[in-house]
Amino acid sequence: MEFNYLKFEKRGRIGILTLDRPKALNALNEGVFKELTCFLESEDVKSTRALVITGEGKAFIAGADIKAMQEYSPQAAYDFSETGKMVFDKIANLEVPVIAAINGFALGGGLELALACDIRVASEKARLGLPEVNLGLIPGFNGTQRLPRLVGAGNAMYLMMLGEGITATEAYQLGIVQKLTPPESTLDEAVALAEKIVTKGPNALRLIKEMVREGLELNSKEAGKMESKEFGRLFKEDHLEREEGINAFLEKRHPNWE
Ligand code: CAA
Repeated sequence: MEFNYLKFEKRGRIGILTLDRPKALNALNEGVFKELTCFLESEDVKSTRALVITGEGKAFIAGADIKAMQEYSPQAAYDFSETGKMVFDKIANLEVPVIAAINGFALGGGLELALACDIRVASEKARLGLPEVNLGLIPGFNGTQRLPRLVGAGNAMYLMMLGEGITATEAYQLGIVQKLTPPESTLDEAVALAEKIVTKGPNALRLIKEMVREGLELNSKEAGKMESKEFGRLFKEDHLEREEGINAFLEKRHPNWE
């Protein structure tokens, strides 16, 4: 598939998606969202066991395209926000693990995209934040919802109200970033992490995503019930992944999930 703003490559079982609009620090516009939608529905994604998302050049993504937004009507801005959310939900709901490799600035919509990923690995030199307030705006791609669920309302308000951005180390301390790397090895470390993850039970990985994501939308009692139901289902007689995992442990060998 040919794209203007995206690049895709496979390293073994891991797919690497690169936002490739470096002159505008990979800013998100309607064209980028169209291409992302196509990509997320493509065979390229279906053939990966994990997806790593990164940015070309000095930014991961510096946010929504401010130049494009200058002319927006209220309806166009609403549609843009809904489109961004739809795309980011597609990322969040992919069945395979998704890791953001934050190579540089992850601001506004860029941080919101990273928050839709399952895990964030960042360069020690990266800067992250939701600076929309400096433009008289609010985050429009679910940042006001995803960030407080990750770091609590107080930390999220602090970041959004100040709009200053934080270092990758501060983001790591807050739990936004799960792993810090030297700048030159961010992508490689994200891919290595993905490779480690895909050695685990594929169905269990899918279910972990589903339980965490859906559970965040439920109260803890309902979420706990959902977990027990899925845990029970794993013990159906024909559940080969569970059988192989437990047998491999007892036989002191590595499980073979293929
Ligand atoms: N939209 C469009 N273009 C952008 C952009 C953005 N979000 N961010 C950077 N660019 C462009 C710049 O305009 C510049 O283009 P020109 O060369 O044509 O002038 C080019 O990218 C390089 O940027 P800078 O010269 O500014 O690079 P810098 O290293 O000096 O600064 C930066 C980097 C601190 C990230 C700075 O570019 C910046 O502050 N960018 C805007 C960040 C921002 O406010 N993001 C939030 C956007 S709003 C949003 O995302 C809303 C939402 O949730 C829906």
